[in-house]
Amino acid sequence: MSSIVWAWSDRLSLQYPEMDATHQEFVTLCAQLSQAEDQTDYLLKLEALIAHSVQHFEQENQWMRETQFPPAGCHQTEHDTVLSLMQEVHRRVCDGEMDLADRLAEELPHWFEHHVATMDNMLAQFLRKPALEQNLTV
Ligand SMILES: [Fe+2]
Ligand SMILES: [Fe+2]
Repeated sequence: MSSIVWAWSDRLSLQYPEMDATHQEFVTLCAQLSQAEDQTDYLLKLEALIAHSVQHFEQENQWMRETQFPPAGCHQTEHDTVLSLMQEVHRRVCDGEMDLADRLAEELPHWFEHHVATMDNMLAQFLRKPALEQNLTV
């Protein structure tokens, strides 16, 4: 497993406390995944990350539906894609493909940092606007 442990950083903060708290949890679970000791431990940690991600992504999808966030489709597609990838890796690690386990643990932080800086950042900025201004943006 990776020797570099990913950690929360203020640069990931989007000044939207509910989203930031969820993102801190994602970072913690990803860091734990990269520290897994064996196949069984990895699968348990990946299951925890998947369970978190289902709720994390659905919360954001719900905010996007409620506010009619214009780029919602693109953002939801990214959520669906990464969730499917995590589930696929879970299946394949069950079958013994441990090289994939390492790759996912290494790649998820890169994906997440980019997702937060782009998709989640746009959503947080949109959610911080008053409701009237959100409607004028659509
Ligand atoms: Fe997010
Ligand atoms: Fe997101």
